[in-house]
Order: sequence, then C-alpha cells, then structure tokens
Amino acid sequence: MATLEIRDLHVSVEADNATKEILKGVDLTVKQGETHAIMGPNGSGKSTLAYSLAGHPKYTITRGSVTLDGEDVLEMTVDERARAGLFLAMQYPVEIPGVSVSNFLRTSATAVRGEAPKLRTWVKEVKETMSQLQMDPAFAERNVNEGFSGGEKKRHEILQLELLKPKVAILDETDSGLDVDALRIVSEGVNRVRESGEVGTLLITHYTRILRYIKPDFVHVFANGRIAESGGAELADKLENEGYEAYVKGGASA
Ligand SMILES: Nc1ncnc2c1ncn2[C@@H]1O[C@H](COP(=O)(O)OP(=O)(O)O)[C@@H](O)[C@H]1O
Ligand SMILES: [Mg+2]
Repeated sequence: MATLEIRDLHVSVEADNATKEILKGVDLTVKQGETHAIMGPNGSGKSTLAYSLAGHPKYTITRGSVTLDGEDVLEMTVDERARAGLFLAMQYPVEIPGVSVSNFLRTSATAVRGEAPKLRTWVKEVKETMSQLQMDPAFAERNVNEGFSGGEKKRHEILQLELLKPKVAILDETDSGLDVDALRIVSEGVNRVRESGEVGTLLITHYTRILRYIKPDFVHVFANGRIAESGGAELADKLENEGYEAYVKGGASA
C-alpha cells in the first residue's frame, strides 16, 4: 500500500518583494485506501499545501520532506509526480486552449500508465464514467476548462480522477460552487474511487457539507499554516457547530 508522508513542511512565497512563510510545519500521513479531510478557515494555507505538493514554482519549500512510497516527491518534476501516482485537483484549474477534454484525458492516461490505453476499451471507459457523472458526451470535445462552469470544472476533475486511478488524490475545494445535485454527483464519484480501496484521498475543504456525502476516516483542522488538531469524523461535526474560531484566536490569520 502506497503512503504519502509529509514531514515538517515549511513553505514560503515571494510577495511584494518580501518572503512570507505560509506553511509552518505540516505533518500528515495519507495511506492508500484512507480518506482524510483537511478543514480550515480561509487563508490558513490549505491551497498552498496543495500547490506545494503539485510542485507549483511559486511556492518554495524551505524545510521538511514529502515522500510517496519512500520516494522524494519534492525532487520530482510535475510529470514525475503524476506518474508516481499523485493526483492534484486545484481550486482554480487552468484553461488549456486548443486541447479537448478527450485528448487531454487520453494524453494524461498515457503518461500515467506508461502506455496508450487501448482505444476501444478506453472510449467505453470514458463514456461510462461520463455518464455516471451525468456529463453530456459532447463535453468531451470542448477545450479543457474553457468556459466551464464551476460545476463542469469539478465534474471534469472527478472524471480525471476516476480514469487515472492515482495512489493518492488531493482535491482542493472540490465542493465549492456546487449546487446540491452536483455536489452529490461529484461526491458519488469520489466514493466510487474510494471504494476501490486503492486510492488515498486528501479532501481539502472549508465547508463541512461535502462530508455529509463523503465520510472521512480522519479529519484535520488546518489553522495558521499547520495542522492544529486531528480526529475522526466526529471532529467535522464539532467544526460544523463551533466553527474555526477556537483555532484562529491568537494565530496570525490572513
Ligand atoms: N502565490 C501567492 N502569493 C502571495 N501570497 C500567497 C500566494 N499563495 C498564497 N498566499 C497567501 O498565503 C495565505 C494562505 O493562502 P491559501 O493557501 O490560498 O489559503 P486557503 O486555501 O486555506 O484559503 C494567504 O494569506 C494568501 O494570501
Ligand atoms: Mg484554498
């Protein structure tokens, strides 16, 4: 079973000619088959964690380590991270003009699997997954993220997730901007992947509502650039009732 290990991770960004430390010692272990929710107030550094794991050049790791199955993730290129089995869905996914969803998915699957998927089974697999996510087949011919609504972006992410079957998936605010029906459809996709028992999921969210559909094994409260508390699913209920105030007090919240 693959394990993502984040140890004492410190990350800074350059902003206004100054270096600002955003992550201040994150420790987290995610094993294949486990679902972890990271919850925290706006500006606490949740997306910075996702970007840092994705290898975004804007974020500088100043201390700590990230390994997947003992391999140093921080030394890997973005492509190598994907091939090693990391999947990252960003809060604000980028548009890829001139590249259709269908081409993008096939290219990604080829890169991740190390060989092109057999056309016939692949087309079937894509069709079935799109239909489970209640996506119109015509969607496959649109350019990646170009003019996608919030809901379409998130469904497209889950479509990738289901087709690429990573070892560890990091989903940043997959629930944001979704109406109730879309939230349910997207959650069902995550649960299908989860039920395979082969994917570790790190669900980053500000709101507790997605956790009504996806029951996490572990909940971590993120505040001021680190994990302030960890617990089971019951911790999400506490946050639902009490909010994040207790964790933000005294911290330099942004
Ligand atoms: N690229 C960046 N440049 C400057 N500041 C950034 C950048 N990315 C994040 N930050 C700052 O880091 C803090 C944490 O942001 P973020 O990780 O987006 O938080 P969250 O996702 O928890 O809302 C904020 O104060 C934000 O302004
Ligand atoms: Mg964020």
